[in-house]
Amino acid sequence: MSSGSSSVIERARARIVYDSRGSPTIEVEVRTASGAVGTAAAPAGKSRGRHEAVPYPDGDPYRSAQIFNQEIALKLVGRDALDQRGVDAFLREVDGTPNFSRIGGNLALATSVAIAWAAARSASLPLFAHLSKIFNMRTALPLPLGNVIGGGAHTLGQAPDIQEFLVFAFPEASLRKAVEANFLVHRRVSSALTELFPKAAIGRNDEGAWAAPLPSEQALSLLTDIIESVANETGVPLAVGLDVAASSLWDSSRQQYVYKREGVRRDPGEQIDFIIDLVSTYPIKYVEDPLHEDDFAGFREITDKLRKFDCLVCGDDLFVTNPERLEHGIKEGAASAILVKPNQVGTLSDTFRVAQLAHTHGYVRIASHRSGETEYAYLSHVAVAIGARLIKTGIMGSERVAKLNELIRIAEHLGIER
Ligand code: PGA
Ligand code: ZN
Repeated sequence: MSSGSSSVIERARARIVYDSRGSPTIEVEVRTASGAVGTAAAPAGKSRGRHEAVPYPDGDPYRSAQIFNQEIALKLVGRDALDQRGVDAFLREVDGTPNFSRIGGNLALATSVAIAWAAARSASLPLFAHLSKIFNMRTALPLPLGNVIGGGAHTLGQAPDIQEFLVFAFPEASLRKAVEANFLVHRRVSSALTELFPKAAIGRNDEGAWAAPLPSEQALSLLTDIIESVANETGVPLAVGLDVAASSLWDSSRQQYVYKREGVRRDPGEQIDFIIDLVSTYPIKYVEDPLHEDDFAGFREITDKLRKFDCLVCGDDLFVTNPERLEHGIKEGAASAILVKPNQVGTLSDTFRVAQLAHTHGYVRIASHRSGETEYAYLSHVAVAIGARLIKTGIMGSERVAKLNELIRIAEHLGIER
């Protein structure tokens, strides 16, 4: 479409707001000549990959806000918000480092998304439609991948070493039924845990998943029983997913995975056998980061071995939404899916570059939130525009549910509400 002058950026500013953990985060607001406003704030990871973009210079969001207001805002004025690639390239240029360590990857993302929103509003399009048009990818409506039992870095105290026990519906389910089935599983897990531990206070972790003193296998058998009964009652076929987040278990000096809370150590071969054993015993159809972030060869081996179980192997810390790391994975045959977390890489252009590469090479795209989230729901638009099969949004808390509610609205817009 012709932009005229209405999508030209007239004003931009950054401010600090707070995320779901009460930590400061960056928010950027952009206004175009037509009066359209785009705002976006960045989320924050806790179980971060070593190869991610640096969220803030010296870990300080206030510094990023200052850089934006003093150095970047004025240079954005006069640029066309429709030129997303140009604006994103400009952000890379002003940063001048390979991983946004000078201005902060979170600042880059908030700016990139705020500009996309302003452009979409100038063009009277929903964000997903605008993104799918400028980045030329086919849309798809993802189903939720919900974290119902939490351990690892997201959960304090006696909880499983594996970071996330997830539930998701098979693709034939409708969005609404899939969302409701996930919530029902979460509720049933709560009742089962209260019965198992009548004297314990069962808390919810950063993403709303239940935290309980369960070894991994017990968590899996409890979840298996619950998804079977919920699937029978609701008619929604369900599967289990795991995010092992194995980098946080990896002890590089001993070359072992350390399951501290369960008192077990596994060398890489034993780790692969352990995961295969779990997948062959329980209805697990998704495994994220089963090995540490630099073990591409191990990922190839486990991907090959899990193929016959029809189980996705997803790289989160392995790929960190980075096109070069995904290219390496493609050459190695590592993983069959990629987690797409926009703030791991910085801008929307980078996010879509990696998503396009994944699509071309047959990797399933799974859009993902971070454990520290905001009320913004642009992730749902990105998920639809990259043709994601699943979207990881934790499970409870309005910052998590906001993404699902936005998907419901998008589904209605697409005319595929069932
Ligand atoms: P995060 O972890 O705390 O870095 O957001 C989530 C994940 O490992 O998927
Ligand atoms: Zn992960």
